[in-house]
Amino acid sequence: MPCRRTCHKKWTGLRHLIGFTGRAFACYFGCCKKNGTYTPASDRKKIMAKITYIESNGTVHTIDAENGSTVMEGAVKNSIPGIDADCGGACACATCHVYVAPEWLEKTGAKESMEEDMLDFAFDVRDNSRLSCQIKVTDELDGLVVNLPEKQF
Ligand code: FES
Repeated sequence: MPCRRTCHKKWTGLRHLIGFTGRAFACYFGCCKKNGTYTPASDRKKIMAKITYIESNGTVHTIDAENGSTVMEGAVKNSIPGIDADCGGACACATCHVYVAPEWLEKTGAKESMEEDMLDFAFDVRDNSRLSCQIKVTDELDGLVVNLPEKQF
């Protein structure tokens, strides 16, 4: 959207003045100073990916996770039961253990050695086990399905 810094409307009273002032502030603090465009707040949506968590009892939770966050953070933010995340995402507790659905294994990437080591402490580790704090949410992971173990530890 082109920058609306310049107001082309004719003066129509207070409402117009407020509208103009708002746009001027938005332009001053917004992105148009850099690239000549201004996106109204209503059009500025955070990019989200849908993540589905399936509890060991079969209960399904689907949430919108913000890109750049982790699968663990999405679970904690949305109070998904079964993800404890005691260390807050530092890869030091293994209480965010999940099973990545086989069709998503490639997109979630490979485990780093630190994650492999921590998984030794997790309960019922399988080939598709991951620590959800080590899986970054991206557009690519929109639709990701993870199963939760019966317990953490
Ligand atoms: Fe502790 Fe993931 S939150 S290892």
